[in-house]
Amino acid sequence: MTDITVPARKPARPHFSSGPCAKPPGYSPAKLNVESLGRSHRAKIGKTRLAYCIDLMREVLQLPDTHRIGIVPGSDTGAFEMAMWTMLGARGVTTLAWESFGEGWVTDAAKQLKLDPVVIRADYGQLPDLSQIDWSTDVLFTWNGTTSGVRVPNADFIPDDREGLTFADSTSAVFACDIDWSKIDVATFSWQKVLGGEGGHGVLILGPRAVERLETYTPAWPLPKVFRLVSKGKLAEGVFKGETINTPSMLAVEDAIFALEWAKSIGGLEGLKARSDANAAALSKIVEERDWLGHLAVDPASRSTTSVCLTVEGADTDFIKKFAALLEKQDAAYDVAGYRDAPAGLRIWCGATVDTADIEALGPWLDWAYATLKAEA
Ligand SMILES: Cc1ncc(COP(=O)(O)O)c(C=O)c1O
Repeated sequence: MTDITVPARKPARPHFSSGPCAKPPGYSPAKLNVESLGRSHRAKIGKTRLAYCIDLMREVLQLPDTHRIGIVPGSDTGAFEMAMWTMLGARGVTTLAWESFGEGWVTDAAKQLKLDPVVIRADYGQLPDLSQIDWSTDVLFTWNGTTSGVRVPNADFIPDDREGLTFADSTSAVFACDIDWSKIDVATFSWQKVLGGEGGHGVLILGPRAVERLETYTPAWPLPKVFRLVSKGKLAEGVFKGETINTPSMLAVEDAIFALEWAKSIGGLEGLKARSDANAAALSKIVEERDWLGHLAVDPASRSTTSVCLTVEGADTDFIKKFAALLEKQDAAYDVAGYRDAPAGLRIWCGATVDTADIEALGPWLDWAYATLKAEA
């Protein structure tokens, strides 16, 4: 058997999962403020912390006053489906899909809401032709497709004079890139991605045109209580001040507050973007230096800087499973196998909570796992 050298240095934090993602550097549950725990979320302390979390999100996202931001149930899925179920059906719908999560919204629109959407698709690794979009319809898209590592480069493809609303599932994009909020009517995300927070809650952002839709349109289908954003024809404004629809996890809220305070301490959005960009650049260098590794996202302009998806020469699902298991056993890298519905490959999270030194330390371990498996074959 070939003598394969085990790399000397391991990533200090081998957490490369694309969700839930690595905790912020220096994180410990012991550092969380737990004063609000065991109290009513409607008590002053609970409401204050929820409102503080909302304020921090607005500040770090640089979200303009035109847009509301609220905490809702059901993680990113809950937030996005809440938007779909409350606002779609008023006009035609276009859904864009270039990977698994976008496909999930197509299924919701076509099979559950039965809206007969126009579907514009592309294969894994590509962006669809955005010039085909009919902007008289409502348009649903995933800003950053986490399972293919392809994102829209910016919001320039969205016209200012669109008639329909834009719905952007932005869970792997916010806190990692610039978003022109004037182009976004609805955006959703969850804390478990770039912030390294917990799942469970979603965040819903509504622009003025989305609020107008909510106040003037009633969908034909029944809405469960957790989706109800309107009361007596008016937006439930309390949701956007921390009066959540139902009981939130204050522990998850405190965890998000920790991450947001960390984000502020490193320079806010600019600091977060810089860390993510540096991670993605360090990973690209590793890819360039190896002829057996490649990017699934073909065009660098639409290549994600958070969920970076890699092709591995000759790899099938079984090879990738073994590859990821070898790295996990060594505590060198956790959760680096690509998504189950994506082409077999690796996926390495490069969001801001990951340290660049850990990405750099990963290179030799990828070599080691590849060589080990090749030697076994
Ligand atoms: C683009 C995208 N949309 C939706 C989801 C679902 O998110 P959640 O599990 O927070 O509901 C994910 C999770 O990975 C995602 O990456």
